[in-house]
Formats: sequence, C-alpha cells, structure tokens
Amino acid sequence: MTLSRRTLCAGTGLLLAGMLGLAGCGSAEDPAPAPSSAAPAAPAAPRQFLLGAAGVGDAYFPTYGNGGYDVSRYTVKVRYDPAEDRLTGTTTVQAAATGDLSAFNLDLAGLTVRSVTVDGAPAKHGRKGDELVVTPARGLIAGNGFVVEIAYDGKPEPLRNEVLGSGGFLHTDEGAIALGQPESASTWFPVNDHPSDKATYDFEITVPKGLTAVSNGVPAGKSTTGDWTTWKWAERSPMASYLSTVVIGKFRITEGEHKGRPVFHAVTTDLPSGAADRSIADTVEVTDYLESVFGPYPFEAYGGVVISDARIRYALETQSRPVYSASFFSRGENTAVVAHEMAHQWFGNSVSLARWQDIWLNEGLATYAEWLWAEHDGGRTAQQEFDDRYAGSSGQVWRTPPGEPGVPNLFSESVYQRGGMTVHALRVAVGDKAFFEILKTWAAQNRDANATTAEFVALAERVSGKQLDDLFEAWLYGKQRPDRPGRV
Ligand code: ARG
Ligand code: ZN
Repeated sequence: MTLSRRTLCAGTGLLLAGMLGLAGCGSAEDPAPAPSSAAPAAPAAPRQFLLGAAGVGDAYFPTYGNGGYDVSRYTVKVRYDPAEDRLTGTTTVQAAATGDLSAFNLDLAGLTVRSVTVDGAPAKHGRKGDELVVTPARGLIAGNGFVVEIAYDGKPEPLRNEVLGSGGFLHTDEGAIALGQPESASTWFPVNDHPSDKATYDFEITVPKGLTAVSNGVPAGKSTTGDWTTWKWAERSPMASYLSTVVIGKFRITEGEHKGRPVFHAVTTDLPSGAADRSIADTVEVTDYLESVFGPYPFEAYGGVVISDARIRYALETQSRPVYSASFFSRGENTAVVAHEMAHQWFGNSVSLARWQDIWLNEGLATYAEWLWAEHDGGRTAQQEFDDRYAGSSGQVWRTPPGEPGVPNLFSESVYQRGGMTVHALRVAVGDKAFFEILKTWAAQNRDANATTAEFVALAERVSGKQLDDLFEAWLYGKQRPDRPGRV
C-alpha cells in the first residue's frame, strides 16, 4: 500500500531502477512511446519483463523486503498445532506490480511451500535461502493488480539475527508467540518484509480448542469445529509487517469498548492476577491522554497482551495491541511502558519509518511520551527527566549518534534516551505552542504512511519558522554531548 512518495521509491526494485529511473520513481507508465497516427505503426517492441529485486534497498538491511510490487492486503490463514509444533497455512497477497515483472520474491523463512498460484493460475516457485521466488505463467504488467496464493507448512523457526537477537515464531509451553523487530513476519507467512510496504491484514488462526489466539486489530469472530477453534482478526489500517503478531496460549481476557472501538486485553494465566492486569487496564486512559498531545488515535482497536517467556525481555508496539513481557510488571504497576508502546501507535505504526536508520523517530518520540505521561500523571516533569539524562548519560550515549546509530545500536540507549533528549531540545528551541503543533501535524500529515528524519526536520522548521539544522545536527549526528539547551 503506497500512500507517500517515499514508499513508492522504496518499493521500486533495484533491478527495475534502470527502467523506471527516467519515468520517475515507481511510475506505472508504460515506457514505450505512444504510436503516432501519421506514420504506419511500427511493430510494438516486445515488453521487457524483469526480475523483482530481492530487497527494497534499505542500507541497514539490504535483503529486507522485495522490489517490483506493492502489497495492499494480506489474508493469513494458519493452523498451529502446539503438540506437533506444526504450522499449516494459506496466505493470499493482493498486490500491484510497479514494473513489468517476469518473476518476483516474497520473504519466507523456513517452512515448505506446497503450491503457488498467481491470479488463480499455477505458478513456478523456488527457494533461495529465506526468499520465495515466484515465476507466474505470464509476466505481470506494471500498474496492474495481481493476487498470489501460497500454501505452505512446516515447523516454524525464529530468525537468528546475530546482532539483534532472535525474532519470529517461537514455540512456547502451551502455544506460540510470533514477535520481533526489525523482522519476524516471514517466519509464519510469506511477506514483503519491510516497513516501506504497508498493507491491511486479515488473520484466521486455528488452534486447539481451549487456547486463545490473539492478533492485531479488531476481533472479527471466533468459531469452533470439532477440536479446533478459529480466531479471526482484522487490521484495517495499513500496517508494517514487523508489527504483525500472533500469540497463542491461555489468557485472562478482558473485552470492552472505548470511544466506539473494541478493547481486547489478554494476560497470560502463568501470572497471578495483579500488576500486569492493572497496568494493561490503564491502556485507554493513557491513550486518551496521548490523544490530547498527539491528535486522534489512529487505529480501530485498543488492547495489550502480556506474555511470560524467558526468551522475550522486551515489549513491542504490535499494531493496536502491544505485546509486553511480564518482566515490566514484576515490581508493580507500570504505565510508563504502556505510554511508550501506545505512543508508538502514532510514531512508528501510523507514521512509519521508510528506512531503519531513522529508528530514533520511533524510539525518541515514544521515550518522550513516557516523560510527558509521567508529568501528566503527577510524577517527575519532562524537564527533570531530561536533566537527569543530560547529566548522567554514559560516554557511549554521547559517542553514538541516534540519527545514524548503525545496526548493532538500533535499539541502544542513544536511540531511546538521546532520541528523547533530542525531542526535548526541540521543544526548548521552538516553545510549547510550536512544539505540540509539530507533533500533531507530523502525525496527521503522515498518517498511515512512511516518513524520514529529513521530513521531520523540514516540518519542525516550517511550523516554528526557525532554522534548526544546527540543533538536529548536534543532537542526531554529533559524536559528543551537545551544549545544554535552556529549560521549558
Ligand atoms: N520497539 C520496541 C520498544 O521500544 C523494542 C524492540 C526491541 N527489539 C529488539 N530486537 N531488542 O518498545
Ligand atoms: Zn519503543
């Protein structure tokens, strides 16, 4: 799904760049000249079909995603049997070609592909590592929509990322958890696995009767046949693939409604009822506060899932329904983490990065949201939070530029804390009125789309009428502690 110029560019395969370069990034125009009526029409040059690229060209993760097409919708139907640790699935991908394609890739890690059709006709398919290469019977024409259906099965395995740890499908004692940033989706369905290609999702997850299968978006029904229950979920806002999740297990479920939207919380029954349940229950109150500073909540559902698995020590802002490690609640109620993950619904999820280097746009703003929430909640002020970190951050934080952290530092303290300090330095420089207008405008203008650091800086300068190059240069790209800003 392409809602910004950025996405189009990112979705254009490297191998297609030559062909599309002059016609404009992602142009769906036929590059052949129009026949002239004056001269007898020369025989049309044969269309040249090209291979879709095996990556979108993200400098940090060159193999992520694929070029040559743009997905609008996924329908993911999987059955998981925890006793056998076996997944059986059919995924339907609705997409449009962005160039003339003889073949294209989807990302799929492990699993065995049984059949592939394109527009209902059987297609050739092969594997190259974690890429599924599909060769349709007929070439795909730039600008045309097409539908791919993939049937597959096997024992899902998480990805092993050397620097960032594992992401993806994990078998648990009684079920499974599919979770991970910057990638995870390809471990349970074929996908264009880069945030630049956002799409809507329908999930149908079939699990043994008695287990819950929670995913993103609106609960769309549940039905039991024999010993199996199918849980349906619909994410109707464009979503980056790493924000998809499924969590299968035994949960205490709380269902409700808030502002006309469904609320669905799930806390693992491995935990006694307590701080985790109370913290998650505060999700809507926290989100209402965030709406007052960021503008309208961008999605159609609310929720939270609390898991207890020693392999997952983080929380992730999975769209409309974050997943939290129980460890966040081991010392009592914690709404800071809820504020952080719900802030990502605006910054990261609705406004998505176009390249992983810009991760500070997600984490810096979500960290700042924690400070704003703490102050609103009667705790320490954002200024106090800033002061502590400005005085107390390590040399490592000041040496690592959050705007250019490098892959090993993607989730480092610099990205989170110095990222949050950058937001505060901006606030001090432009004043509260312009600052909150910048945040609201950023969320509104880039809703359901992708955006970059350069665009954020340009917006901040336009709204404030101030020249901010030096501020961002020092805070995002400098390798030493910037000068101390004033105070709010
Ligand atoms: N984006 C998540 C958060 O800030 C953290 C993800 C951490 N991922 C990782 N591979 N360590 O809430
Ligand atoms: Zn975060």
